[in-house]
Amino acid sequence: MRLVLVGPPGAGKGTQAEFIAAHLSVPKISTGDIFRANVSQGTPLGLEAKRYMDDGKLVPDEVTINMVRDRLAEPDAGDGFLLDGFPRTVPQAVALDKLLADLGTQLELVMELVVDDDEVIRRLSGRRQCRGCGKIWHVEFEAPSRADLCDRCGGELYQRDDDKPEVIAKRLREYSDKTAPLVDYYGAQGKLVGIDATGPVEDVTVRAIDALRSYGG
Ligand code: AP5
Repeated sequence: MRLVLVGPPGAGKGTQAEFIAAHLSVPKISTGDIFRANVSQGTPLGLEAKRYMDDGKLVPDEVTINMVRDRLAEPDAGDGFLLDGFPRTVPQAVALDKLLADLGTQLELVMELVVDDDEVIRRLSGRRQCRGCGKIWHVEFEAPSRADLCDRCGGELYQRDDDKPEVIAKRLREYSDKTAPLVDYYGAQGKLVGIDATGPVEDVTVRAIDALRSYGG
């Protein structure tokens, strides 16, 4: 299956993407994770992306589209994928449609995680991520047994630079200005399914998998 997860920052896309990708046996492709890996390796792409990410802004479309084009050309994405955080603008969505059409295929489903701004702020301000395996934790909702270490791999946990309150506010504005229009874009294609993303992680996963099953996934 070729699937996109869309939703505001902190909606739980990365958290749910792990379970959904495992359920579908497809690779999870997160543009945020790819940018962060480039930032930590100090690549030219990472240096460019960091300027935007630290300011809560989207990385320019051209840079992001080229990066996704390269990633989708890798063999593991040939039979399906789950995109987390891409597309994020209508031009990115148009580019993705074209890229897939050139490969003789198309997106099957776009899943929107629906959650309000107050919940997003609570989730982002308590998020911690593992530098080793990338596992996402939350100091309150999914707390590791030691505040600074990952229970899964023993890696160091850190707080993302863009999870500061002033950057969160900018990311939410970027979302409503540039990403929310994708709901109409994919709605018009008949590919959009909305999921209530409030409540415990496990409940959201059950809703997501139920919705996938009704679309053959
Ligand atoms: P990206 O990494 O994609 O950030 P985002 O979309 O802002 O999403 P987040 O990763 O912040 O949140 P999430 O929805 O994955 O939530 P999570 O599962 O972690 O992008 C970062 C930056 O990169 C962008 O700002 C931009 O600069 C750049 N970028 C990336 N893609 C781009 C693109 N296509 N174009 C241009 N620029 C791009 O959950 C959050 C917290 O909540 C966690 O602590 C988690 O444990 C907790 N949680 C999750 N679910 C629940 C639940 N049900 N109940 C309680 N807590 C929960």
